[in-house]
Amino acid sequence: MTGEEAAAEMEWLAKEIARHNALYHTDDAPEISDADYDALVRRNAELEAEFPHLVRADSPSASVGAAPAGHLTKVRHARAMLSLDNAFDDAEVLEFAARVRRFLNLPADAPVAMTAEPKIDGLSCSLRYEKGVLVQALTRGDGTTGEVVTDNVRTIADIPQRLAGADAPDVCELRGEVYMAKADFAALNARQAESGGKIFANPRNAAAGSLRQLDAAITRARPLRFLAHGWGEVSALPADTQSGMMAAIAAWGLPVSDLLLPCASAEEALAQYRRIEAMRADLPFDIDGVVYKVDRLDWQGRLGFVAKAPRWAIAHKFPAERAQTTLLAIDIQVGRTGKLTPVARLEPVTVGGVVVTNATLHNADEIARLGVRPGDRVTVQRAGDVIPQILESLTAAEDRPAFVFPAHCPECGSDAVREEGEVDIRCTGGLICPAQRVERLRHFVSRQAMDIDGLGGTHVESFFRDGLIHTPADIFRLRNRIDELVKREKWAGTSVRNLIDAIEARRAPDPARFLFGLGIRHVGQVTARDLVKAFGTVEAVAAVATRAASDADALAELNAVDGIGPVVAQALADFFAEPHNRAAWDDLLSEVAPTPYVSNERASAVTGKTVVFTGTLETMSRDEAKAQALALGAKVSGSVSAKTDLVVAGPGAGSKLKKAAELGVAVIDEAGWAEIVAAAG
Ligand code: IVH
Repeated sequence: MTGEEAAAEMEWLAKEIARHNALYHTDDAPEISDADYDALVRRNAELEAEFPHLVRADSPSASVGAAPAGHLTKVRHARAMLSLDNAFDDAEVLEFAARVRRFLNLPADAPVAMTAEPKIDGLSCSLRYEKGVLVQALTRGDGTTGEVVTDNVRTIADIPQRLAGADAPDVCELRGEVYMAKADFAALNARQAESGGKIFANPRNAAAGSLRQLDAAITRARPLRFLAHGWGEVSALPADTQSGMMAAIAAWGLPVSDLLLPCASAEEALAQYRRIEAMRADLPFDIDGVVYKVDRLDWQGRLGFVAKAPRWAIAHKFPAERAQTTLLAIDIQVGRTGKLTPVARLEPVTVGGVVVTNATLHNADEIARLGVRPGDRVTVQRAGDVIPQILESLTAAEDRPAFVFPAHCPECGSDAVREEGEVDIRCTGGLICPAQRVERLRHFVSRQAMDIDGLGGTHVESFFRDGLIHTPADIFRLRNRIDELVKREKWAGTSVRNLIDAIEARRAPDPARFLFGLGIRHVGQVTARDLVKAFGTVEAVAAVATRAASDADALAELNAVDGIGPVVAQALADFFAEPHNRAAWDDLLSEVAPTPYVSNERASAVTGKTVVFTGTLETMSRDEAKAQALALGAKVSGSVSAKTDLVVAGPGAGSKLKKAAELGVAVIDEAGWAEIVAAAG
């Protein structure tokens, strides 16, 4: 099969799979069997494996099975799903009991019987049984409206399809928590890592991501569990207490926590809290507190609820776990965008059952605020699933020097700079910094920049990994490595030829695209065009920017260019002052020769005007519309202000349209825009 044939088939598959997705998920009217659908998806995956350079931007494999949960059907709850108020210490729990007494006008010493049970860290789900049969499952959603997850819930072994016994009320909504056990979560993440799938941050996210799937087959493959903790609409109540109801729910076959305890008073409930807290680390699932519920249902009815939480229940949250340890070192990590993030390396310490070895320090300001230095004893805190934090240093300041944030990038040695008004410090070695390289290379070849046909982000990544390309210039030397390419990718000779041809076609790139492709901070598409328009060639831009590092006049010259402010001027100066960037630049210019700037502006109704696009465009992409506007000499802005001359609004336009109306800015639709473009000829 040739690349061309494969590309044609992949195009057809993308359209066909998208059509069947819509028929199945949106119209509920599938035309083909699941097996036939799977065959299409498999065929596409095969072609993508064989022709990785032909993977489409709208590849079906990127969306199959991971359809956004936004597409799940929404349904109103028969009875709202409430949330809970929190108490953080014993006093607040005793105050809860006192409030209940006051509300019910009970004597101050009357005991308030309540249940105590673990607060499970999952997501709540409402199961509707009619005549004992499971008919619908909804997520909590916003409490009023939830998402339909019936098929998914049917895959959870803890949840019976039919209630046990003959005494279940005709209508019976049972509510509880869908969760993932800690061990199952770890195993799932290990599997995901192996298959290159999504890694979940914590069991709660894994449970939510697994339940809210369009494809119940995915949910089935995930080890979800369920614990009941309440009910919604029920046609007849089999008991008059919370504890009696929970016993009935257990008898109907739903799991109820074996740590649920009816307590005669708030004091007894607090004792149960302490027992549960002591067991916390050894429980097979994550919990983040204990929930107390007034036991008498007639009292619950009288107490009612405030806003979104019942007056008859409260969640007693566990305090954030803390421990002391030694700060061994402060490492600096460089992110894909060049941001330098300090990370505290700690002597391993157990915090709430989890061994902590790292903590985030956020940025240089945070280090200064805490005054921490390597060698200090520190207090670390871990709360829920947040990254452990350092709270304070326990070591006296003495005369040990403060930590000095490095002035150079630890990855590539380039200058690290902090821009005015910014908290973050960034590496300036964009083109050569290993931490940023792949990202930069992807940007360089992207559609808005060099637009190299058939060289997508996935390729760049694999070529980089395999040492075929390190810098942008290397892309233009790939023609010397055709043999390796053919072998490595198992590509047909023609595919490699096509790729090389596409690269060769960019030896004389548009100067603005080229400049934009370098990924210089603050130099976007529009700024890049403004720069080459002002200086004529990329070499001239580089010359001024190079001088700008040491010459105030040159900096002023950059600053004076229409559309360029001091921040961009300084970013340009920083970029060209960095020797590594300079070397990469020279290397690149030995391979390519960007053309001089040629005005391609056509005089039109919008020349010199500022245009904002908002809403959905139907006949073209946002990028294409922007390119048209720029070609007509218009400026394109992302937000509506007094400086906006024209707003082009498609369906779904919201706040920007409103703002335009407020400011009296002219608004046209897509057809109106097409007329302006056509009129310019
Ligand atoms: S009772 C009206 N009991 O916590 C009472 N909720 O923060 C509503 N949760 O939305 C809930 N374990 O998802 C209750 N034993 C438990 C719980 C529990 C976990 C969740 C539930 C709720 C959230 C409120």
